[in-house]
Amino acid sequence: MSCTVVVGTQWGDEGKGKVIDLLAAEADVVVRFQGGGNAGHTVHVGDEKYVMHLVPCGILHPGRVNVIGNGVVVDPVDLVAEIDGLEKRGISVAGRLFISEIAHVTLPYHRRMDEAREALRGEGKIGTTHRGIGPTYSDKFGRVGIRMADLLDEDLFTAKVRKNLEEKNTFFRSYFGVPEVTEREVLDPYRKYMPRLKDMIVDTIPLLGKSLADGRRMLLEGAQGSMLDVDFGTYPYVTASNPTAGGACTGSGVPPTAIDSVIGVIKAYITRVGAGPFPTELPAEEEERLRLRGREYGATTGRPRRCGWFDAVVARRAAAVNGLTSLAVTKLDVLDQLDRIPVCVAYEYRGARLTEFPPRTEMAAECRPVYEEMPGWKTDTTGARRYEDLPAGARAYLKRLEELTGTRIGIVSVGPRRDETIRISG
Ligand code: GDP
Ligand code: IMO
Ligand code: MG
Repeated sequence: MSCTVVVGTQWGDEGKGKVIDLLAAEADVVVRFQGGGNAGHTVHVGDEKYVMHLVPCGILHPGRVNVIGNGVVVDPVDLVAEIDGLEKRGISVAGRLFISEIAHVTLPYHRRMDEAREALRGEGKIGTTHRGIGPTYSDKFGRVGIRMADLLDEDLFTAKVRKNLEEKNTFFRSYFGVPEVTEREVLDPYRKYMPRLKDMIVDTIPLLGKSLADGRRMLLEGAQGSMLDVDFGTYPYVTASNPTAGGACTGSGVPPTAIDSVIGVIKAYITRVGAGPFPTELPAEEEERLRLRGREYGATTGRPRRCGWFDAVVARRAAAVNGLTSLAVTKLDVLDQLDRIPVCVAYEYRGARLTEFPPRTEMAAECRPVYEEMPGWKTDTTGARRYEDLPAGARAYLKRLEELTGTRIGIVSVGPRRDETIRISG
């Protein structure tokens, strides 16, 4: 039996798509377990580039079964557009993609609410992806959500939508002062996407249970990152789900006892999209240099990502809350030409040295990084395929990351393509 969870360890965009694609070659089933269309997972296959939002990255490997787990929030309009895009490019989806019947559905009023709340927050806005993620999860926990199975019965769906619109539109009208969402805005698209989706909506619990019992290899695909976790992240500047390893169980129905490894994807530096504390964020000019080298622009929104040096305080927190068994370090090549590479080993907070990420966001916002500097290697690493091929400076850098995080490195990525990868056996 083999069941591996892959999670982001920073603030998202660590290169999970690339790593999952790599591991999917050795898996039979790939399951997304949380988040929704806020995710943008980039995969390069030869000269082709794919950006996956809701569909698990395993779809790019012929023959793999892909599951959108119960913990995911699904906008059916976006999902059908994504499936169409894949099929147009020759990727077969039918019969290989299954959606949990108990996954919650994102509807037009969730997006409207997301935008309205952000607008109202003004300066204090979170910088969400406007995909309706927070409001969909709010409805789920508020016990007024609509689930994929509800879509299978048009009368039931219509009744639930009508009831929800009464409440939502009262808020839109009287509190937010934004246009109401009409029943037609919800039902017209429904009639278009349902014929495409209905056969994919199934009970995924027995499907996954049987896969495990049959010894099929499973990969649980995380979205976002540990510091965007609604519990462990920089609340309220977080997403509305649990991208950490615990979420893999609650978001898929795969029990914790079935999981045998948790791989943390981690950039050789760090980025963040949206607002919130970011202790190693660089000053504008330096940040721009790193952003250009790393092509750090959002895969979903195109926003420039905030960039900073590797933060071991963040990495240690991720290692702890996820129980990481190994790290996949990505984008090492982006650091190739630097003279010196700062690594944040602790924070300074009002004269005190902190080695744990502070629980209060206001405190995190005041933390200053304590850096240790590593010499750069000034050598192109993109051609390295074995650990021994890496320059001594790059190996020393990786070794230091292992020491600081207390976690061994199993994968090093030196470019966006599948082959630009080094595997290190444990
Ligand atoms: P995800 O959301 O974690 O899947 O990450 P994104 O796809 O949003 O962002 C990662 C970006 O880095 C993508 O454009 C990838 O193609 C790219 N990438 C991944 N690994 C590497 C690498 O090792 N080197 C370089 N230069 N780019 C990489
Ligand atoms: P992947 O899977 C980076 C960020 C948003 C915002 C916050 C809340 O590609 O790593 P939301 O729309 O989720 O309510 O926004 O979370 N965010 C991401 N940042 N990568 C992502 O996904 C993200 N998904 C959400 O920018 O700060
Ligand atoms: Mg991304």
